[in-house]
Amino acid sequence: MTTVKILGAGSIGNHLAHGARQIGWQVAIVDVDPAALERTRSDIYPARYGAWDEEIRLATPDQINDEHFDVVILGTPPDTHLALALAEMRASRPKLMLIEKPLCPPDLTPCAELVRVAAQNDVRVLVGYNHRLTEHTRIAVDWLKDHALGEITTLRAMTREHWGGIFAAHPWLSGPADTYLGFTSRGGGALGEHSHAINIWQYFAELAGCGRITEVACMLDEVEVEGAAYDRIAQLSVRTDRGLVGTIVQDVVTRPAQKWLRLEGADGYLEWQVSVDAEHDLVKMVGHDGSIREERVRKTRPDDFRGEIEHMADLLKNPDQASPIDMEAGMDTMRVIVAALRSAREGRFVRIED
Ligand SMILES: NC(=O)c1ccc[n+]([C@@H]2O[C@H](COP(=O)([O-])OP(=O)(O)OC[C@H]3O[C@@H](n4cnc5c(N)ncnc54)[C@H](O)[C@@H]3O)[C@@H](O)[C@H]2O)c1
Repeated sequence: MTTVKILGAGSIGNHLAHGARQIGWQVAIVDVDPAALERTRSDIYPARYGAWDEEIRLATPDQINDEHFDVVILGTPPDTHLALALAEMRASRPKLMLIEKPLCPPDLTPCAELVRVAAQNDVRVLVGYNHRLTEHTRIAVDWLKDHALGEITTLRAMTREHWGGIFAAHPWLSGPADTYLGFTSRGGGALGEHSHAINIWQYFAELAGCGRITEVACMLDEVEVEGAAYDRIAQLSVRTDRGLVGTIVQDVVTRPAQKWLRLEGADGYLEWQVSVDAEHDLVKMVGHDGSIREERVRKTRPDDFRGEIEHMADLLKNPDQASPIDMEAGMDTMRVIVAALRSAREGRFVRIED
């Protein structure tokens, strides 16, 4: 049976533990905070999924030590990811490691060691941009194979979501300053927390054959409130190495949320939306010849992670395949975050060098 160790008994740790149990994995959740473990057992897990699952092992790090696990998932704050990843590669010796997004705080320097140690220990590393693996994204991938949009002219993506929803899911936090969320420098703020938009923009640019982002101009709305210091709005203009120009917007102020993308072509457009209503994701392709394809994919919150978990199971069986959430894609998103911060603070376009 596949064994998985999930670090972080918080919001994402519970979602991924539930997803892993759904496919029969043996799950251990590990947290440095015993109160978080207790909250998982008595509150978060039963409230979300109906009942606590007695098969899940809860432990503090010292109760697990150097046991081997097939899969390690890091569901801890971004500023803990790299150090934990390096330690886990040596202690747990997993075949597969999923690091939650964003990969790290906005500094790429320590990533070189991650790449080196992962290669040395033969660990496949993924970064948890789960929207690349949901059902409506798979449908879009399939439709785009027909190249029905003609020449691609621009691409827009946004993850605009007031973070009241996040704090509602974390009632034990009193506000942004209590966590990494309130600090852009720790991987929070709109740039880090809502980096799904940068990442999905990059995915659709790649699918459409439009290359990688090499140039970024960014305007941030940065605030300092009640001990927190974060960007609440990030507006990026980007250009790829193949000349595609587009926009990406992320914010923590928009209510209700907009998680949306549009790929514009000479012959039509594709629209993609997460949670178009409480129960559906949407994908739609409209041709200027009058053709329309539209799928509303019914989903629940656990479905947001189902594709990701199933993909991990598949990678364990067939490790030679490429993955849309491979570490390199997560690092590419981090390159854009770092460039966006520099652009905003220095008031200029920033080039991302190879
Ligand atoms: N992909 C998604 O849609 C999605 C959704 C939610 C969160 N996330 C990401 O998951 C990560 C965690 O977010 P969250 O909302 O679950 O946070 P959280 O605050 O709910 O939980 C984090 C937990 O990690 C624990 N922790 C901290 N350091 C640790 C360590 N060294 N070892 C073990 N446990 C440790 C904390 O005690 C806490 O219980 C972030 O990077 C976030 O961006 C991704």
